[in-house]
Amino acid sequence: MIGRIILNYFYWKAGANPNVFRQKPDDERRYANIFRDDQGGEMKVVAFNGSARKNGNTAILVNHVFRELEKEGIETELMQFAGKKIRGCIACYKCFENKDQRCSVTHDVLNSCIEKMIEADGIILASPTYFANVSTELKALIDRSGMTSIANEGMFKRKVGAAVVAVRRGGSIHAFNAINHFFFIGQMIVPGSTYWNMGFGKDKGDVEKDEEGLLTMKALGENMAWLLKKIHG
Ligand SMILES: Cc1cc2nc3c(=O)[nH]c(=O)nc-3n(C[C@H](O)[C@H](O)[C@H](O)COP(=O)(O)O)c2cc1C
Repeated sequence: MIGRIILNYFYWKAGANPNVFRQKPDDERRYANIFRDDQGGEMKVVAFNGSARKNGNTAILVNHVFRELEKEGIETELMQFAGKKIRGCIACYKCFENKDQRCSVTHDVLNSCIEKMIEADGIILASPTYFANVSTELKALIDRSGMTSIANEGMFKRKVGAAVVAVRRGGSIHAFNAINHFFFIGQMIVPGSTYWNMGFGKDKGDVEKDEEGLLTMKALGENMAWLLKKIHG
């Protein structure tokens, strides 16, 4: 407890807020999961939503995957980038000098994301399709956590990874591939689904009407849970 307070003080001095993602719904989810843990669930999946829109289509799709994971007693946590500060890689390569599992740029949320990723058994990277690619925020996470991982001999090696993409009409396969490149170069293990992991919709909530997209998320959640249990069971 005292250690945590001291650590938070240093984060604060460095300009980074370790609690920056903490929002009430997430806290409620976390507390709900304490009870799930008591029932034997010891695995955890963390998801990052790169959308500029909180609780939009991307978040809805992720929650459909979470539902299946939670049925299997796996703890889940959703981190949303909407309104949060995260910048791109500055190519300083200090992560190769420091080798401390941290990015040397400390004034935004990136290092708290890395901590969450290290702690988790499974990582979902989720994004809306923006100009046939992932959002800027998710790309910043990919570049900086990916480079830090390489500098530290593969921090996410053999964790389970899954991409989730929301899209209005076109370009989602490119965003899906961009995320999968992160998993594969990071020596991670990627479960499949019944289609590529995308859901169609424009306005908030529209993906709920994409029946096939939701079935894809359901199968993804089931397969991710199955794989996690094979690895850790
Ligand atoms: C900057 C921007 C770029 C977009 N580019 C595309 C695109 O290339 N293809 C597409 O089908 N939809 C595109 N969209 C629409 C979003 O992908 C779509 O509305 C998605 O459901 C948003 O997910 P969200 O609710 O999680 O933010 C774009 C939206 C924005 C704001």
